[in-house]
Amino acid sequence: MTDRVNDTAVPAAHTSPVTPFQRLGSEAGVRALVDRFYDLMDLEPEFAGLRALHPPTLEGSRDKLAWFLTGWLGGPNLYVERFGHPRLRARHMPYSIGIAERDQWITCMGLAMAEIGEAGGFTAEMQDKLLTSFAGTADWMRNR
Ligand code: HEM
Repeated sequence: MTDRVNDTAVPAAHTSPVTPFQRLGSEAGVRALVDRFYDLMDLEPEFAGLRALHPPTLEGSRDKLAWFLTGWLGGPNLYVERFGHPRLRARHMPYSIGIAERDQWITCMGLAMAEIGEAGGFTAEMQDKLLTSFAGTADWMRNR
């Protein structure tokens, strides 16, 4: 069962008693995922191309992705409250995103989820569902 949120399939929130946001540890859980994602992007040579598209300091990127994912996972709409409709595809237009960039993003996010693992709510099933949704969104962001 999935919903369409921001043009992306995400695990249904309103039909289940507990949202993915809650399962993943709410604000702290989402922040841990985003921090691991950007730490890996910063550290791992395989993500150098993706890293180079981002600003020198990742603090703003961390905040924005954490706010966005909070709402996307069924928590409070922190991103929308601050910036309005995500318009993700339009907001990514300034960055040249092809297959390599898309795949680096998906791999980096997959690694972050796998590293945090079951203890942080990322069961194999949760990782699978989220990775499928992330992959769809990432592919939609391609602009070349
Ligand atoms: C397909 C590969 C992707 C690339 C190369 C990419 C790259 C970027 C870059 C360079 C920024 C600007 C960061 C900054 O201003 O600090 C950004 C912003 C952002 N990205 Fe991505 N991104 C990708 C996929 C995604 C996906 C799949 C999501 C969501 C699931 C996402 C969510 C966001 C959000 C919410 C922002 C902040 C937008 C704003 O308010 O300006 N991105 N991305």
